[in-house]
Amino acid sequence: MRSFMTSSVLVALAAFSSVASALPAPPKFFGCDVSKLGPTFPTNQTALAKPAGSTAKFVGLGAGVQNYTCTDAGTYASAGAVAQLYDVSCIASTPLFKMLPDMAFSLQSRASAISSISKTLGSNPLKLGDHYFVTAPSGTGISPKFDFTASQKSADAFVLAAKAANIASPAGSANVDWLQLNNVQGALAKTVFRVDTKAGQPPASCTPGSALISVPYAAMYWFFV
Ligand SMILES: *[C@@H]1O[C@H](CO)[C@@H](O)[C@H](O)[C@H]1NC(C)=O
Ligand SMILES: *[C@@H]1O[C@H](CO)[C@@H](O)[C@H](O)[C@H]1NC(C)=O
Repeated sequence: MRSFMTSSVLVALAAFSSVASALPAPPKFFGCDVSKLGPTFPTNQTALAKPAGSTAKFVGLGAGVQNYTCTDAGTYASAGAVAQLYDVSCIASTPLFKMLPDMAFSLQSRASAISSISKTLGSNPLKLGDHYFVTAPSGTGISPKFDFTASQKSADAFVLAAKAANIASPAGSANVDWLQLNNVQGALAKTVFRVDTKAGQPPASCTPGSALISVPYAAMYWFFV
């Protein structure tokens, strides 16, 4: 009796799994393979380049702020950034993709909408991680860091980087530069690109002694391994 039960359960399971494997896979919303994709650079530049033999592993839509301090000369100097990165790998090959930084930027300007969305989502499975600045390894200045340790459940899933190259945004001077950043520490990526930037530039001048300002921006970040 027992073996009959066991074998009927096995037959039922086998039948179910053959049906299940014949069904189309459910759509994925995050964690899609982007190894054959990558950023599109303006054709008239050579400063930014995908590293040979390296493939994209993550693509994150970043939204947050660029911080600036006012120098004695009355101009703003970069003082780091704080942003959150969201996994957009599953729409990276759709026409919508290029519009995402603009969309994220306009949504972000409605801060209350964003905060209620994130409260509703709780721990958001689309969140790849955080971008912020830390003291540079030399002890002088600050370095950009991308921290995916929570989403990747690994203490090494971060990259502390250094700027390797930059170009002006082809979409206009109101947008922060496009960047290539190289790994200094961490196992998340060898190279990070910031492209398709939206806003984030400071005003042209400031009153010396005035407070730090935070300028909202959005951008697309690619992580190559
Ligand atoms: C490339 O073209 C963009 C406009 O399409 C222009 O803003 C930029 O200065 C050019 N860059 C170089 C290196 O010629
Ligand atoms: C940048 O500004 C944000 C608030 O706008 C703040 O939370 C963050 O600590 C600032 N970062 C730095 C490095 O000043």
